[in-house]
Amino acid sequence: MTKVEMTVNGKSVSGDVEGRTLLVQFLRDGLGLTGTHVGCDTSQCGACVVHVNGVAVKSCTMLALEADGADVSTIEGQAAPDGTLNVIQQAFQDHHGLQCGFCTPGMVMSAAALLKDNPKPTEAEIRHYLEGNICRCTGYHNIVKAIMAASGQDVGAVAAE
Ligand code: FES
Ligand code: FES
Repeated sequence: MTKVEMTVNGKSVSGDVEGRTLLVQFLRDGLGLTGTHVGCDTSQCGACVVHVNGVAVKSCTMLALEADGADVSTIEGQAAPDGTLNVIQQAFQDHHGLQCGFCTPGMVMSAAALLKDNPKPTEAEIRHYLEGNICRCTGYHNIVKAIMAASGQDVGAVAAE
């Protein structure tokens, strides 16, 4: 076992991990941050997306040891301490961008990374960016609408399903 230390949602954390421990396992099993989901074992679904040093990463593709010293953000760090949803989370709620919710943490984290780099994405840019995030419920339409709304754009412009 090897000790890792990192900052997660603004707090310093540490733990002992094996060389094979994935970042998602450390977050979920080591830190109890179970909002980051595991939806596949093929690195395809995107349910596990977190930010590492400000970059969206599938945390099932990264070893915990590789995140040693990093600044990590998870879905648990997105709402305000009093529980007020951030603008993306609120937009998902307002525009019914979720059904079962399993993909939602990864979708929100991917959307946050997109809007950081591209504050006013087009519908096509949103759909392209979300290619690494799979949702088996919504058909993506309301997710795209939610991200358009979170970016302050008119959701009426989103193409009909
Ligand atoms: S659990 Fe990471 S991509 Fe599916
Ligand atoms: S809301 Fe169910 S998988 Fe996306």
